[in-house]
Amino acid sequence: MLILGIESSCDETAAAVVRNGREILSSAISSQIESHKPFGGVVPELASREHLEKIEFVIDKALSDADVKIQDIDGIAVTQGPGLVGSLLVGVCYAKSLAFARDIPLVGVNHIEGHVYSVVFENPAIEYPAMALIVSGGHTNLFWIPEEGQYKVISRTRDDAAGEAFDKVAKMLGLGYPGGPIIEKIASDGDPTTVRFTKAKISDGRPDFSFSGLKTAVSRYVRENDIASATNGQKPSKRIADLAASFQKAVVTSLVGTMEKQAEELRPRTLIVAGGVACNQALRQDASLAAKRLGVPVYFPSKHLSTDNAAMIAAAGARRLAAGESAPMSISADITMRLQNLQNEDEQLRKSRVRYKL
Ligand code: KG4
Ligand code: ZN
Repeated sequence: MLILGIESSCDETAAAVVRNGREILSSAISSQIESHKPFGGVVPELASREHLEKIEFVIDKALSDADVKIQDIDGIAVTQGPGLVGSLLVGVCYAKSLAFARDIPLVGVNHIEGHVYSVVFENPAIEYPAMALIVSGGHTNLFWIPEEGQYKVISRTRDDAAGEAFDKVAKMLGLGYPGGPIIEKIASDGDPTTVRFTKAKISDGRPDFSFSGLKTAVSRYVRENDIASATNGQKPSKRIADLAASFQKAVVTSLVGTMEKQAEELRPRTLIVAGGVACNQALRQDASLAAKRLGVPVYFPSKHLSTDNAAMIAAAGARRLAAGESAPMSISADITMRLQNLQNEDEQLRKSRVRYKL
């Protein structure tokens, strides 16, 4: 079965052709990083306009790279949510038109489920129950996956996503955008023991993440220690490198510490760490060490598949397309889409006034 995946939830316009949900024939990505760089973050209006300009070209490229024609495609999987509404709509509308014109089935895919499936191409088959840490610019979640397609959120961020914290701290230090790769590079010259950041405590005792306090602590440290921002083109100071390394260590310790603690209790057979922040080598190293201690394998996507791409969306949609599922033509973008189909939110959580982010 040949599936065309389409992804446009944030600032990457992507299309991929995937065979039977496990073999990538092509994966085309047009990144908008350069357009958003001057603003230090994604500008939604610019993002949707650029998706509109690029989508046809990107889909044509995915088809020609795979050496197939649109007539060869058996089904389409498109990111339905969560994400930026204007961006999502471009992919969803294009996918609907293609599916209608070709009379082939279409399924809407949860972007976060896509990240879970990003590990299926280059790793052994996932053994269930599995546990997945999905960390990106918009999401930070730990999922319990008792069997394929069943998700229960164990931990989520109470405020910023981990990638968002990297981006904001980089901006604060004058390092540029996106922050994750820049901080990682600079941190390699720094000493992670320089600044001790304490782990955020969640008052109701749930195993959730929180990164906004860490961001504030970095800002306070910068102010109190008179740390000058990096200036364009110049090598950042040793003090910035030490701070970047200490910040990165704090994020990684929080993510891996929570995952390991939950895995000790729930005993998954596979660990998955995916999403843009999974490009980070310090995170990979610590997660690998934790997996070793737990005696289970940990699967990461390669760099190309860690950040947003359409191959993972095709993989996530494959099982449903193979089962004959097809979305009605009324399908639309859903920015609030959640990845949870197992009861987990107890009464207390539902009543709490905390606004959760996916
Ligand atoms: O998955 P992704 O492409 O988009 C979302 O779904 O959000 O993730 C992008 C995020 C950005 O916040 C970026 O700073 C972060 O992933 N990121 C990293 C690294 N590479 C990308 N964070 C830490 N270390 C990295 N090497
Ligand atoms: Zn993503």
